[in-house]
Amino acid sequence: MKKAVYPGSFDPITNGHLDIIKRAAEIFDEVCVAVISNPDKNAYFSLEERLQMLKEAAKDIKRVKVDYFDGLLVDYAKQKGFESIIRGLRAVSDFDYEFQMALTNRQMNPKIETVFLMTDYKYSYLSSSIVKQIAHFGGDVHKLVPRNVARRLKKS
Ligand code: PNS
Repeated sequence: MKKAVYPGSFDPITNGHLDIIKRAAEIFDEVCVAVISNPDKNAYFSLEERLQMLKEAAKDIKRVKVDYFDGLLVDYAKQKGFESIIRGLRAVSDFDYEFQMALTNRQMNPKIETVFLMTDYKYSYLSSSIVKQIAHFGGDVHKLVPRNVARRLKKS
């Protein structure tokens, strides 16, 4: 049984994240989307809100569950038996940060492999920050995020 964790801030989940989740679920027997409870950057949505939005958005995708973690990702992965860490790559600009993170995680636990999925070109420009900015100024985000997230952004 191949189990993978897809970690992130998910503040909030976008269609780009959802695309990675769906594709990872075709590769692994189980994919756990793990929300970091205390991200480096202050989160706009609370942990509960981020988890709720993810659960709603991913409820129809088989082999996917949602959880949260704090502390080191490799410790969480080891404790839960995840052999792989999934990360999505958008543009070259993601590479430095992702490379550093993957190598650091491998240095800490060489048994856990980071697997990168290239984002669909449709979502290559998309980020949670951009979505929040558009929503903040009253723009339309319905093509960028799952329906439940668009509703939530409209209210906030
Ligand atoms: O969606 P993000 O904000 O790019 O996700 C980053 C995340 C949560 C995957 C990363 O910050 C993380 O793994 N944090 C946990 C702390 C940790 O393990 N740090 C060492 C790896 S650099």
